Amino acid sequence: MTATVIDGKAFAASVRAQVAAHVARLKDENGITPGLAVVLVGEDPASQVYVRNKGVQTHEAGMNSFEHKLSVDTSEADLLALIATLNADPAVHGILVQLPLPKHLDSDLVINSIDPAKDVDGFHISNVGLLGTGQKSMVPCTPLGCLMMLRDHHGSLAGMNAVVVGRSNIVGKPMAQLLLGDSCTVTIAHSRTKDLAEVCRRADILVAAVGRPEMITGDMVKPGATVIDVGINRIEKDGKVRLVGDVHYESAAAVAGAITPVPGGVGPMTIACLLANTLTACCRANGLAEPEGLTA
Ligand code: GUN
Repeated sequence: MTATVIDGKAFAASVRAQVAAHVARLKDENGITPGLAVVLVGEDPASQVYVRNKGVQTHEAGMNSFEHKLSVDTSEADLLALIATLNADPAVHGILVQLPLPKHLDSDLVINSIDPAKDVDGFHISNVGLLGTGQKSMVPCTPLGCLMMLRDHHGSLAGMNAVVVGRSNIVGKPMAQLLLGDSCTVTIAHSRTKDLAEVCRRADILVAAVGRPEMITGDMVKPGATVIDVGINRIEKDGKVRLVGDVHYESAAAVAGAITPVPGGVGPMTIACLLANTLTACCRANGLAEPEGLTA
């Protein structure tokens, strides 16, 4: 079998187009423009690239983008004061503090100071609790993107065996909650799981989010399974730098029914879902109907 390739780049473009169409209607009919504030502390090069891309795509969707770039030695008090200002600003519907933060700042404290209704990353402890209890919340962008692709490919996920490899707060744990919410039978596996290959081979849906290049190989994939590769790893091979996922693509694609490539799979969905979450937050703040198909 050769797997169907799930085209995340095209899917993300269609999500961005849906968001842009809804934003245009909000402006026309309600005179409201959604606004996203992004806070970057320091000059980490990868973070700068992410923040630039977020700003460009926010504008392209017709939303306002507010960028706050702070020096690496910004005090916790100053950062918390900025967040308090953004929390109180009615033009700001979403707030994202780019991670990782410099070591002298307490990430948990900073994230939990964001108004949960504006927490478009879904990292605030209130949103984590709401998701865990099946209530309306803001959902972390990367797992939301994975869920959208899975629903698009399968329709209903009910009764499927899902294995999530990785237990991070940003991807693994919320991904498992979302799959449970869609009535999958969910296993969370990780680096210490005994006989990981055997556990993975039970999966109709296998989500790899461990951060280890090409760790999931074809022999760990059930024939016909859907493989979602969340990993983005830079490795040097034959003197060249290559981007690879957490899945060994060639061997897995020979066994799987469907698979997301790296690059061009899950990656583009993250910012698309950030825009969707900002739109959702804006609709909720104004008591308007939420966009269909863009929430969990
Ligand atoms: N750094 C890398 N990915 C992310 C993300 O999704 N959200 C935030 N806030 N920081 C990140």
